[in-house]
Amino acid sequence: MRFSVAMPENLLMQFDQLVAKRGLAKNRSEVIRDLVREALVEEECTVLGREVMGTLTIVYNHHTTDLQNKLHDIQHRYLGSIISSMHVHLDADNCLEVIVLRGESGDVRDIANILLGVRGVKNGKLVTTTTGGNL
Ligand code: NI
Repeated sequence: MRFSVAMPENLLMQFDQLVAKRGLAKNRSEVIRDLVREALVEEECTVLGREVMGTLTIVYNHHTTDLQNKLHDIQHRYLGSIISSMHVHLDADNCLEVIVLRGESGDVRDIANILLGVRGVKNGKLVTTTTGGNL
């Protein structure tokens, strides 16, 4: 379907810069479709009961007492929702871990918050997504 969109000139100029950054394979229409899909997936991830995938990235100092044991215990406790994890040793003290989750949106968020709440976790972020269905 075709439709026309009105927007302020300044916004359109910035949008065209974004289109240019996404490379030669993308034009205005494709970037608008990408943005709409992104918004719909983001919205879907907030709906309780929806099946979502999540990647939780955390950074922590592995010298913090008992921290690694706690993170490990939590991951065993929720093994039905935690699919995989990858550990990267960043430097002499710090580690980065990417934990992949799959399950009901509320459960995925709760488990991520439990991991983020462990004392010694310096920072982290959960990114959720879905397959996008037939978008
Ligand atoms: Ni490490």
